[in-house]
Amino acid sequence: MRIAPFETEDFYARYEFTSPHILSVSDCETVSIAELLELAGRSMADLGRTRLSYTESRGHPELRAAISACYEHVDAEAILELNAPIEGIYIVMEELLEPGDRAIVLGPCYDALHNIPEHVSGNVEYWMLEPVEGAWALDFDKLDALLRPPTKLLVVNFPQNPTGFLPTEAQFFHILERVREKGLWLFSDEMYRGLELDGASMLPSAADHYERAIVLSGLSKTYGLPGLRFGWLVARDQELYGSLLNRKYYTSICPPAPSETLAMAAFEARDKLVERNLRRIHANVALADTFFAQREDFFDWRRPQAASVALVGVDVPSAKEYCHTLAKEAGIVLLPSSFLGYDDAHVRFGFGRESFGASLAAYEKHLAKGD
Ligand SMILES: Cc1ncc(COP(=O)(O)O)c(C=O)c1O
Repeated sequence: MRIAPFETEDFYARYEFTSPHILSVSDCETVSIAELLELAGRSMADLGRTRLSYTESRGHPELRAAISACYEHVDAEAILELNAPIEGIYIVMEELLEPGDRAIVLGPCYDALHNIPEHVSGNVEYWMLEPVEGAWALDFDKLDALLRPPTKLLVVNFPQNPTGFLPTEAQFFHILERVREKGLWLFSDEMYRGLELDGASMLPSAADHYERAIVLSGLSKTYGLPGLRFGWLVARDQELYGSLLNRKYYTSICPPAPSETLAMAAFEARDKLVERNLRRIHANVALADTFFAQREDFFDWRRPQAASVALVGVDVPSAKEYCHTLAKEAGIVLLPSSFLGYDDAHVRFGFGRESFGASLAAYEKHLAKGD
């Protein structure tokens, strides 16, 4: 079966590296290799000693142990390192779904989370976050109706891209109860876990509380290291783990040796990296508060509770056309919601970059010209 165009990545391929004002990406400000090693108390020589040989396919045992320490009831045997977080979405969907299998996906969401199951099974339905006054909300009656047999898989992502939504712990456990009752697989994308804003607490990981959960995580967002292309799956079901490992042999065989060395440094520097990213996101969301308060006629602002992104209503005939024109004519890059399985009336903002304030000022100037 053909796979849908990956519109988000295609859009960024077109504009991200040539436009001066990037206001919408989901990653956080990166650091150099030298800075990362310094934050971890290591030296460049550590990286220099890394041998460029094949590595263990599951991942280095010490690194898998460091990853499993991020969870309460997960041991290193349940961790499968990936060559990029997105590889995990691909191999899990290919493994779990057959053509016709019914999957429910929380939307709106990152393209791959719905396009890949759609490509494999052709039978995806959406549990959509609902816009309410100043926030997003889950409708559990709708979830109950959607999870009717023969559903096989529920896909969720908390903290959520693109809305910045974070459920309460009670809501999260309610979801786990629902899938447990029905014996479903749960794909829990936890790429933004650790980026909780305004004192919100980190949700427990689905991996710690549901044996049929497959958790995706990585270093691209919360740690701000997307260039490492380093991620992992947690799969406690050993039969499934074996099948995923088999798929991984076909997609990448084993993790890149330099990324493993640097990922180890990232775990050692975790608190410092996350703290920097959270501080920056808080500051940028505060700038956004002021910006949107002055433009309530044009934008519908829903403040993120977590993650590095928010989905904002915009009063234009087509958000997609608006974003293309804005990028081409003003070098300002916002992401339209239609790429994320939603309407054509929202745009994503991203708060992780150091340049956010300057880019927002450029956007403000651009909007003022049109007033
Ligand atoms: C929710 C979510 N999952 C997975 C990914 C894939 O991460 P990576 O680009 O590091 O492979 C992304 C990237 O934007 C994402 O937003």
